[in-house]
Amino acid sequence: MPTYNLLLLPGDGIGPEVMAEVKKIIAWLNAHGMGTFETDEGLVGGACYDAHGVAVTDEIIAKAKAADAVIFGAVGGPKWDKVPYDVRPEAGLLRLRKDLALFGNLRPAICYPALAESSSLKRDVVDGLDMVIVRELTGGVYFGEPKTITDLGNGQKRAVDTQVYDTYEIERIARVAFELARKRRNKVTSMEKRNVMKTGVLWNEVVTQVHAREFKDVQLEHQLADSGGMQLVRWPKQFDVIVTDNLFGDVLSDIAAMLTGSLGMLPSASLGETDPKTRKRRALYEPVHGSAPDIAGKGVANPTAMIASFGMALRYSFDMGRAADMIDQAIAAALAKGLRTADIKSDGCKLVGTTEMGDAILTELERLAA
Ligand code: IPM
Ligand code: MN
Repeated sequence: MPTYNLLLLPGDGIGPEVMAEVKKIIAWLNAHGMGTFETDEGLVGGACYDAHGVAVTDEIIAKAKAADAVIFGAVGGPKWDKVPYDVRPEAGLLRLRKDLALFGNLRPAICYPALAESSSLKRDVVDGLDMVIVRELTGGVYFGEPKTITDLGNGQKRAVDTQVYDTYEIERIARVAFELARKRRNKVTSMEKRNVMKTGVLWNEVVTQVHAREFKDVQLEHQLADSGGMQLVRWPKQFDVIVTDNLFGDVLSDIAAMLTGSLGMLPSASLGETDPKTRKRRALYEPVHGSAPDIAGKGVANPTAMIASFGMALRYSFDMGRAADMIDQAIAAALAKGLRTADIKSDGCKLVGTTEMGDAILTELERLAA
């Protein structure tokens, strides 16, 4: 069994609390001969800023590049609201994504049957939902230059962000989406705003071409991103794989998260290109939820998205599909037992904290392995 190196970056807020539950799972897999993981840990975000004056150090970037996978918690919080823009906590995450070239962000939204009541939507709309948002992660308006605020000298300032996409960036993210769809229900919905944005025009054109050239067997449809957002809450089960740019993907994936009952349920994988020689691919796994400073340190955060993110690492970085399935089943089983953290609490269920939820998932994992 190969030894895999994991770099754990818990970050800020609830990050360390939910990461502690993943550490239990890693220790359990090691102890039961289901994997050989070595872990290293580092600072990122506000925690890194407090220690080193930057949101991520060169040393951590080097470790992240060398690791087989990075497992990331969350960054940010009001404590760092006033720090300079380029060293704000989020800059650490953005630099990791950019320096590791993690352009493909997979954000599955699965509604566990036990949680269909926790969604703000009606049960029949979300029950059984199983879709993935593929978000482009290293381009678009989050990274485009110029990105400035200029003083116009007349009491006015002007802020500029630049939305920019090259053909190759759209091609490679489209391929991620089509390939993923082939392993699922074979349908891709591409979302952009071609009616008002040039990047939308190019996005639509390139996705259409990649489809015609390489993926004719996959069903492709296009939706404008605003109307796509509406469809996402109207009838989300029409979607299998949605592919969209960095900004729309950020917004639409938070919406998709809520369909599943809580932001605390949504994992994600951020993947780079596969190296043709080593067959390895850089990857970072993180929950979609943020650092939730309002509940940090209280032991009430939901560790499910963090644990499921580690499950995605098993699936996408280590080809451990069976173990990944077991983690998903263990989560479903713990929920079916009626255990709920505060974010997904409902009548007649047992309210538990972070460690109890983590322990319950581990217990189910043990049961499944036996
Ligand atoms: C996300 C987050 C990040 C983003 C922030 C923390 C920089 O909202 O991963 O969705 O905007 O991409
Ligand atoms: Mn976001």
